[in-house]
Amino acid sequence: MQASDFHLVVMWLVLLQAAASCQSPANISSMLAPQADRVMALGEWEERWQEERTGFHQPHVHKMLENNIDKVLAGRTGVRFFFPLCGKAVDMKWLADMGHSVVGVEISEKAIKQFFEENNLTYSEEPAPAIPGAKVYKSSEKNISLYQCDLYNFSSSIEGQFGAIWDRGSLVAINPRDREKYTALIISLMAKDCRYLLDTLLYNPELYKGPPFFVPDEQVHSLFGNSCDIELVHSVDALTDRQRGWGLDYLTENVHLITLKSS
Ligand SMILES: C[S@@+](CC[C@H](N)C(=O)[O-])C[C@H]1O[C@@H](n2cnc3c(N)ncnc32)[C@H](O)[C@@H]1O
Repeated sequence: MQASDFHLVVMWLVLLQAAASCQSPANISSMLAPQADRVMALGEWEERWQEERTGFHQPHVHKMLENNIDKVLAGRTGVRFFFPLCGKAVDMKWLADMGHSVVGVEISEKAIKQFFEENNLTYSEEPAPAIPGAKVYKSSEKNISLYQCDLYNFSSSIEGQFGAIWDRGSLVAINPRDREKYTALIISLMAKDCRYLLDTLLYNPELYKGPPFFVPDEQVHSLFGNSCDIELVHSVDALTDRQRGWGLDYLTENVHLITLKSS
């Protein structure tokens, strides 16, 4: 080997080591440290709904879902969608109008009722016997069922597994210390052909306490990478006056397409 080749190999090894160290557990923990202990109680979410502090709600179909719907559907029709922490996202009606079915989970009864009322859908309300204290609200016209319960009381024994998941305002909204538990639940809800679209936010967590919380790509990989293939399908500058008002100086919205590894 010539000296120049040797130098190239050394440089390559240094770069590989640097890349690996960027994703080491210690490095991820230090990135997450400013928000690691932040806890939002379920009651605080309910208060937000009661006080109409729901700036996260969008009155239109989410652009990232719209832009990536072909990748999620992959030619399939009649797909069963799961919406963790669904709020009153109008995306649920949009998908149901296209012939897909939707199951959502949301703690706030007010949010669920507003979803049906604002979308002019009549609905039934009944106890969900498999989940103590929970109710399920079902649209009479569309294939939409919304469970009013804590997400962590939901499981595949209730509604089986899903062909697609739209995760916007969900992984970024749960308490940071619950991310491993959340990941295990989501993976257990994925059917073999499930295509899971995950929306995350990158910003300086020293500047804002959340929610939404900062979820770096490195953590998406450490959470899902063992069981899933992960593709970054979209990355956009999402900074608006709303987030400038939180004190942020940059905000990147990343969308990942996550599928179960075949073996
Ligand atoms: C940031 S909002 C996002 C709502 C929706 N995904 C959207 O994009 O508009 C998070 C929602 O999750 C609900 N929530 C928070 N923690 C929950 C939990 N553990 N189980 C069920 N719902 C929860 C809140 O009431 C709130 O409506």
